[in-house]
This record gives sequence, C-alpha cells and structure tokens, in this order.
Amino acid sequence: MTAGGRGASYAMVASRIRTDEKRILDAFDRHGLRCEVIDSRRLWQALDADPEPSRGPERNRRVVLNREIGHARAVYAARALESVNAVVVNSAAATEVCGDKFRTSLALRAAGLPTPRTALALTPDAALEALEAIGYPAVVKPLTGSWGRLVSRLPDRETAETVMEYIAALPGPSSHLVYVQELIAKPDRDIRAVVVGGRVVGAVYRSGGGWRTNVARGAETAPCTVTAEIEKLSVESARCVGADIAGVDLIEDTGGALSVLEVNHGVEFTGFQRALGDSVPVADAVIDHLKERAASC
Ligand SMILES: Nc1ncnc2c1ncn2[C@@H]1O[C@H](COP(=O)(O)OP(=O)(O)O)[C@@H](O)[C@H]1O
Ligand SMILES: [Mg+2]
Repeated sequence: MTAGGRGASYAMVASRIRTDEKRILDAFDRHGLRCEVIDSRRLWQALDADPEPSRGPERNRRVVLNREIGHARAVYAARALESVNAVVVNSAAATEVCGDKFRTSLALRAAGLPTPRTALALTPDAALEALEAIGYPAVVKPLTGSWGRLVSRLPDRETAETVMEYIAALPGPSSHLVYVQELIAKPDRDIRAVVVGGRVVGAVYRSGGGWRTNVARGAETAPCTVTAEIEKLSVESARCVGADIAGVDLIEDTGGALSVLEVNHGVEFTGFQRALGDSVPVADAVIDHLKERAASC
C-alpha cells in the first residue's frame, strides 16, 4: 500500500439503504473497515470548502462509494464530493455517461463494441423518421431510466405514432428527446455481467417477467458461464464509460451473437447473488476495489 492509502477513510453515499447497501456495509465490517453513511438527501457542499480539511488532502483521501439511485442526485453527489478531493466510485463523469443511454451508446460505438442500431431524435416527429430508417419492430426508451421503466416495444408505425403522441404530451423539453433502437429478436433472456475493477465478478441470465427481463420487473436469474467473449465485452464496456463498478446488460440474437445494451453505474446485485450464491460475493469485490483505489490515491 502506498503512503496515500494509509489513512484513507471510507464512506457510502445513499438515500436508501436497501438489501444491496446492507450487504456492502456488512462487507465493510467483515474487512474491519469503518464506513460513514452519507445520506444524500442531507448532503450539501459549499463551493469554497477546503479540500477535506480535517484529513489533509494528500495522505488521507476519502474514498466514497456512490449508491444514490436517482440519476441527477448521483451525478451531483459525485461532483460535490470530488470538488473536495474525494475519490468517488463511480466517478461523476462515468455516472453521467452511464445515466444517459445515448451517451452510453456513443461510448460503446466509439470503443468499437457491438450494440444494437440506435438513433437519438430531437423531437417525437423526428423519431418517426428515425424509426423508418431503423425499421420495425423497434424499441423506444427514456434517455435516463432503469428497471425497464417506460421501455416500450414498437411493433409497427401505427403504434409508434401513438406512443410519440404520448411522448409529445409529456412536460419538460428533455422528455422530448427520443432514444430509439432496433428490437433484437433475443431468446427469452438477456445477460447481466457484473464488473468490478476491470474484472468480471460473474454473470447471470435473466428471464421471465415479460420481454423486459429486468429483475425489478420479476425476471428470474440463473448462473451464466462467463465465456471469453462475455468477459471481453463486459470489461471493455465498463472501461469505455469509465466505470469502476458496472452492471453490463448483454443481449444475444437468434444466432447467439452478443451485443451490449447498456452499462449501469449503480449495479443492483440481489438477483445476481440469488443465482450465484455467496461464493461470488459482489460486496467483497467492491470493498477490495475500494481498498485498491485507496492504496493508489
Ligand atoms: N433493443 C432491444 N431488443 C430486445 N430487448 C431489449 C432491447 N432493449 C431493451 N430490451 C429489453 O428491455 C430490458 C430493459 O432495457 P434496458 O435498455 O436495459 O433499460 P433499463 O435501463 O430500463 O434496464 C432489457 O433488459 C431487455 O430485456
Ligand atoms: Mg437494463
């Protein structure tokens, strides 16, 4: 361990302590580390604050795990804490990219990773034109969102026209930015790989609960062998968005070819843990990684 990591302190920023956060706090205990819990609903940061004055900027950097669920609050919590010299995992920059599906798609494409054909339209009308180019069936998703919420399948133009009418009626200019994508004819499952510190901790299949195979929508999880291809795609996906810790969604087509759907910065792992058991502990991998980050401060 380098001198910088010797006096590191650890914190977790969250507004809700769910099962996953409890697992992480238990893992801190098991590793003999104290973790301060910062309630993001009470967090504020003065612009001119000294960088971590009581700890000293060099030797005692604070390593903060960001478990805030809300996108805007997660980004600004990270920005605020980084402004006082904390190492935030994931970084504000990575959180911004992962929290925006189009920015994620751009990063995946720039890294040369396979991802479904996608377009961003600046109005619902433009989205109808983009969909003609992409072809039906297609998918429309909110730019920022998770748990499969509002991710909608568009079998044909007629459905798309109605959905675009609904989108046009939403308040707020950012809701009128429309992210559309080809629908991949996947088997009744997709793959979630968890990456921590540039390594795949494990992967699970998610199936059931409808075509949106999110655990939050009732999908079941089952162990998935981490092939060399899953390893490579997952690690490179996390790297291209700058995420230390990531839940990478992969999708197979009918021929078995894999593409990357999205990269989640606040990975939820209850379903993952249910399928793989305690022999593949995400929380311990997270703590090991935070210790590595502390050591290299
Ligand atoms: N292009 C697509 N083709 C087929 N299924 C998709 C596609 N995009 C999303 N899905 C399904 O919907 C789920 C949710 O989509 P995703 O892009 O991961 O958004 P979220 O951030 O809400 O999880 C995916 O896990 C997958 O099962
Ligand atoms: Mg997803």
